[in-house]
Amino acid sequence: MQIADFITALNPSTSSGRAAANIESTWRRKYEEAFARFADAHGARAFGLGRHALAILLKALDIQPGDKVGVCAFTCLAVVEAVRVCNAIPVYLDIDEHLCIDPQEILIQDYGTLKVVILQHTFGNPGRLDQLLAACEKIGAKTIEDCAHAPDCTWNNKKLGTFGEGAVGQGGMLTVNSSRLLAEVDRQIKRFAAPVSKRTELITACRKWLYHPFSQSRLDCYLGYQYSRLRSMLRARGTSFLKDGFPVLAGYPRQAGEMKAKEKLKQLEEWPKLKQTRLQNTAMIEEYFSNAGLSLWPKPPQANITLMRYPLRVYKKWEIVHKGGIRGLDIAGWYSSPVHPLGGKDLAKVDYKEGSCPRAEGTIERLIHLPTDESLNERKMKAMIRIITDL
Ligand SMILES: Cc1ncc(COP(=O)(O)O)c(C=O)c1O
Repeated sequence: MQIADFITALNPSTSSGRAAANIESTWRRKYEEAFARFADAHGARAFGLGRHALAILLKALDIQPGDKVGVCAFTCLAVVEAVRVCNAIPVYLDIDEHLCIDPQEILIQDYGTLKVVILQHTFGNPGRLDQLLAACEKIGAKTIEDCAHAPDCTWNNKKLGTFGEGAVGQGGMLTVNSSRLLAEVDRQIKRFAAPVSKRTELITACRKWLYHPFSQSRLDCYLGYQYSRLRSMLRARGTSFLKDGFPVLAGYPRQAGEMKAKEKLKQLEEWPKLKQTRLQNTAMIEEYFSNAGLSLWPKPPQANITLMRYPLRVYKKWEIVHKGGIRGLDIAGWYSSPVHPLGGKDLAKVDYKEGSCPRAEGTIERLIHLPTDESLNERKMKAMIRIITDL
């Protein structure tokens, strides 16, 4: 981040601040245009968080209070929060071996009961996409793709995110596949959204700046692990904390601000390098898993995917996560519930009935996953394999 960014963000009333107002929309527009090209989408709109993008997309698809929206039963509160701020009802659909919705779960719904189904491409894997799309069509549901874990992945050489009406992507991006829907999204933005405040942008930027020297280090992993333990013990507040009541939609979605748009545009330019790293690390994980007799994750042959995380089913999940955590190794165990991080009575508050999605619940007890980004290297891989195979 540049000093100039700080100054313009600090004082929007100065001449540089007034210029920043224009720069803001310029950077956001630049990022949106670049992302639309990257995703082969008709158009893109950038928000502060993925849940904001999803809420606007649901409204643009005419989700009304009381409407039912199908969601994957292996997800996080961000997704369900977006459904709830529209006063809609999430309907949890159990998963298959790809950690995506099982198409049968959609087919057993009565025609017209689900207005929209959110197809989550978990860790980058689209599951049985053809069958999922056909099932949604059969029951008269529109589809949104959740590409938060799946940038630049394809199905039969067509980008994920272009199969449904629209998609939400990494870091708060919304994409649409028709001019009609783009016009409707813009109408909903005018009704409900506001840009992220300068103050919020500045605080976020400061946090990142202070945190940067530790990111991807062993200490970062260790502290992250201890924080997640503390959070689950103390129910500390974070962005994934269940609020007592969900806010009414007005003012909830925030469009991406100047700093974020600029940073995301840079990340987009650097994506080919990260993609290469993720592909190489995925190949390394598969080689080590094969040599250790561990199972590889099933990837549909139609899909060409860059995995964000590499999952594995194990017997002693929490022991492995703990051993990794105290050694500063990024062996993660989320999602730790069908609506991560909620548990116990909180699940009922978001309409999840315990026992209703047994395959997702069983998977949650057993699933760990490893990073595929630049934080992984051969030394860490060997240490992780040792922990996994020892237990
Ligand atoms: C599957 C999925 N969808 C959407 C999101 C968007 O979340 P947020 O609102 O925190 O950007 C996330 C974040 O982790 C996610 O895992």
